[in-house]
Amino acid sequence: VAAAAGATVARAFEGANEPPAYAQRLGLAVSMDGDKTIAVPLIAAERPTSLPCFAGRSLPLWTFADGAWPSVIRLDLGDRLEATLDNRLPDDQSTSIHWHGIRLPNDQDGVPYLVQPPVQPGESFRYVFTPPDAGTYFFHTHCNTVEQLGRGLEGILIIDGDTTEPYDADMILLLRDWMIDLDAGEFMPFYTLRGAGRAGTYGRVRSVNGAINPEIPLPSAGDCRLRLINSDPTRIMQIAIDGADAAVIAIDGIAVQPFALSVAYMGPATRIDLAVRAPGEGRMARLIDRASDTPVELAHFVASGSARRTSAFDPAPLRASCIPNPDLNNAVRLRFVFNAGEAAQLLAAALDDATGTTLGSLCLSQRIFWTINGRAWPERDHSRLPPPLAVLKRGHSYVFELENKSSFMHPIHIHGHTFSFIRSNKQRRPAHHTDTLLLLPQENAEVAFVADNPGVWMLHCHVIEHQESGMMGYFGVV
Ligand code: C2O
Ligand code: CU
Repeated sequence: VAAAAGATVARAFEGANEPPAYAQRLGLAVSMDGDKTIAVPLIAAERPTSLPCFAGRSLPLWTFADGAWPSVIRLDLGDRLEATLDNRLPDDQSTSIHWHGIRLPNDQDGVPYLVQPPVQPGESFRYVFTPPDAGTYFFHTHCNTVEQLGRGLEGILIIDGDTTEPYDADMILLLRDWMIDLDAGEFMPFYTLRGAGRAGTYGRVRSVNGAINPEIPLPSAGDCRLRLINSDPTRIMQIAIDGADAAVIAIDGIAVQPFALSVAYMGPATRIDLAVRAPGEGRMARLIDRASDTPVELAHFVASGSARRTSAFDPAPLRASCIPNPDLNNAVRLRFVFNAGEAAQLLAAALDDATGTTLGSLCLSQRIFWTINGRAWPERDHSRLPPPLAVLKRGHSYVFELENKSSFMHPIHIHGHTFSFIRSNKQRRPAHHTDTLLLLPQENAEVAFVADNPGVWMLHCHVIEHQESGMMGYFGVV
């Protein structure tokens, strides 16, 4: 399977004969060690939950299991997952599970109406697939996502089998906000017109693994794998580590040639795996979000114990995934333009209008703020399917030209495929694969992939309020 994985990764970025150093250092062989079937019950229900960040309060989260939030599923590469979703949510909530970033069969992708009926309360649905790539993933509801994800209906999926040298620690850091009013102890509206028509509604309580700025112990001078997952419905972060050497070793689950982290954008749904050399005994390092003028400390690390390593920090690359290599010379180019719809312009005008024309009268009837190629998804949910944005030929290579004509950022997610970043007019990025590319305002970027996975696949913004106010579509692979 894997003999040429390194070279395969290379040509995806270069479109030329010479593999960059990046590919040569990636491990070549992917070992499919797992051969087990892992059965996991996921019982979606309302459970009063008291996370440390809720300041002693308990909130009615929607979760997949009793006990700790969130659920974590861990497999070996090669294992088959059998996850049985049982919907015991309140009466008006159908649901489904989307396995974000996993290249899986179309009927396991969890998009209601498009690939499966929504799972009604009292019903269940069994997802069965064998993930083809090791790495850091997550899964989440794809129904009434703004509220269901807002209330916590998500989990983490780790597929082991990509490490080439052992780490001294391996931990998951789930970054997300909560839309709660801490004084009242209540959820705030998950969807606001002002948010949907602009940068999205940001949560009030920021957390890492459910705690505000937690203290996380690390083995001193140890090389630690930190799996950062931004599962926030809205927030775009700029992540940095202060006080320790850190290298990016994977983006959206897929290995990259390790490079030093200075600061990295993390939009909703992005995962970044870091190798971090912990500081010496008793010293601290910090995980910082630099997206706002005043940097925010998200978590701090305290090192303890005797020093694990004395060698210079030079983290080993993870094993490469076997992702098909698009043929850039013969690829079909398709253009997708992401823009604000008319209502967003009305909204912007209303907000700028000092006389205070009320937002409500302009926009209450309007829930369509965003378009792809001039078309908006017709409803907040998926019950009315528009025609596909494009139909791709199975096995052919495609370059998607993603053009953001709006003045807001959009993390663009494509289901069922992992694509290569090719170029951008705004950002320098390393060669990498991704499933969700963050477009800055007015950014034009190109991504490429082989349309090797037959079915109908969503393409949407992962700022959920944008997704649910128009910026959503799908394409077919036949
Ligand atoms: Cu993680 Cu269609 O989304
Ligand atoms: Cu968006």
